Amino acid sequence: MSAHTARGGRFYIHTFGCQMNVNDSLRMGEALATIGYRPTAVADQADLIILNTCAIREKAEDKMLSALGRYRAVKTQRGALLAVGGCVAQQEKSKLLARVPYLDFVFGPDAIGKLPELVTRVISDRVRVSETAWVDSEEYVFPRADPGSSAGKVSEFVTVMKGCDNVCSFCVVPHTRGREVSRPFVEVLEEVASLTGVGVREVTLIGQNVNSYRGGICFAELLLRVAQVPGIERIRFTTSHPHDLSDALIDAFRQEPRIAPHFHLPVQSGSNDVLRRMKRDYTVAEYLDRLAALRAARPGIAVTTDIIVGFPGETEDDFQATLTLTEQVRYENQFSFVFSARPRTVASLKEAEWGPVPHDLQIQRLDRLLALQRRISGEIAAALVGQEVEVLVEGPSRSDPSRHFGRTPENRTVNFDGTAPVGARARVRITHGSPSALLGVESSIVDLPPVPPLQPRTEAA
Ligand code: SAH
Ligand code: SF4
Ligand code: F3S
Repeated sequence: MSAHTARGGRFYIHTFGCQMNVNDSLRMGEALATIGYRPTAVADQADLIILNTCAIREKAEDKMLSALGRYRAVKTQRGALLAVGGCVAQQEKSKLLARVPYLDFVFGPDAIGKLPELVTRVISDRVRVSETAWVDSEEYVFPRADPGSSAGKVSEFVTVMKGCDNVCSFCVVPHTRGREVSRPFVEVLEEVASLTGVGVREVTLIGQNVNSYRGGICFAELLLRVAQVPGIERIRFTTSHPHDLSDALIDAFRQEPRIAPHFHLPVQSGSNDVLRRMKRDYTVAEYLDRLAALRAARPGIAVTTDIIVGFPGETEDDFQATLTLTEQVRYENQFSFVFSARPRTVASLKEAEWGPVPHDLQIQRLDRLLALQRRISGEIAAALVGQEVEVLVEGPSRSDPSRHFGRTPENRTVNFDGTAPVGARARVRITHGSPSALLGVESSIVDLPPVPPLQPRTEAA
C-alpha cells in the first residue's frame, strides 16, 4: 500500500479550466498543508494526485480522462491516492467512482475546505468517497487565501463570488457551480490588503459573473474600494455578462485610473437570432451601445471577447454577422471555440430541433473567424511600434529567458530588454508587434517593487 499516511506526504494537482480552478487549486494546496502535505512538481513522486477538472466543453473532459489514465500508473507503482475535484466531479458526483474504478475520491468545488477530512477518511477507513454537496446559501464561507502562497508574486487572483444565476442555453457552469453567492466585501478588502503585504501590486477579481456581485456593496463600489488599498496599482476582473454592465461600472472606469483599461466582454455571437437561442438577454445593438459608453468613459480601453462558433441553427448569414461584429469592435483578442453540446443544457436538448451545424463546417467557420482576429490583433500590435508603454514586470520571457516579460495596463504581453526587476514598473519602447506579443526596449524604470525581492513568474504557455 501507500508510503503515505493521513499525517502527510506529497501532493500534485493538475489544473484544467478557468481562473476559478487555478485559484481553487491554490486553496486545495493550503488545505492539504494543514495535514502535513507538501507540493511536488513531479506527479511520479506524489502520494496524492488531484485532477481539478473543467466541464465547459467535451474536449476538457476528454483531457481529464486521458490524464487519469496516465496517473493510474503512479497509483499502481506507489499506491498514490487519486482524486477528481472541480466541475466534472460536481457534475458526475459518485457516478465518477463507478466509471473509474481506480479513483479514490471525488469532491466538488464547495468541498475544498473538507479536503483534509476526506483524505484522512479515505486513508484510515479505506473507503472511496464522493463529497459534492453544494453550499448554496449565504452560509457559504469562502476559503481565505494564505498570503504565504502569494509571497513575492506581482499579480494575484481574488475570488469575489461563486456560481452563476444566468441560464445561457449552452453552458454547464450553473450545473457545476450552483447559484451565485457573493463574498462579503470586507473579506475581499482584507484579502487584497494581505496580498499587498507580501508584494502583490495587481489583483484580478474573479467570479463567473462579477457584474452581479452583491457582497454588501455593488461591483463598481467594490472596484473603487479595492483601488484604495495601499500598494494596489492595477485592478482587473473577469468575467462580465454584457447585460449586467451597469452605468456605475462604466463610471468607475471614468473615475479610477487604477482600474486597468481592459474589458473582457464575451459576446458569443454577432447574430440576434443566435443570441436569442443562447438566452444571452441582449441584442447586438445593446452590446455595442454598452461598449460605446465604456470607450467614451475610458478611451483606448482594450476589449477582448469569447465567441461560440457553429451554435445549433447558425446559418452562414448568422456567422457573417459575427465576422462583421468582430471587424466593427476590433477586438484586441478573442477566445473562440466551436459549440460543444453539454449534458442537460437546453442547447444540447434542442440541438436536433434547431439544426446541428456539421463539425467540419464549424471548424471551417472557426478558422475564418480566427484568421480575421489574427489580422486585427496584428494591426493593433503594429500600430504600437514606436510607442512607449508602461509594463509591470512579472518574470523572464518564455521564448528568451534573457528578456523580461510583463504586461501593459491593457493586458498586452511585452517581452523586453532591460534592467527593471520583477515587480517594478518600467517604460518600454515597442520595437516589434505581432498578433501574439510585443517586443521592446526599456527606456526608464517608473518605480521599484515595494517588497523586494519578488520571485519571477514564468510567462504562461
Ligand atoms: N461566465 C463567463 C463564461 C464562462 S465559460 C461569461 O458568461 O462570459 C467561458 C467561455 O466558454 C464562454 O464565454 C463561452 O464562449 C465558452 N463556452 C461555454 N460553454 C460552451 C459550449 N457548450 N461550447 C463551446 N463553448 C462554450
Ligand atoms: Fe455560463 Fe452564461 Fe453563467 Fe457565463 S453567464 S457562466 S456563459 S451561464
Ligand atoms: Fe470549466 Fe468549471 Fe471553470 S466548467 S470554465 S472549470 S467554472
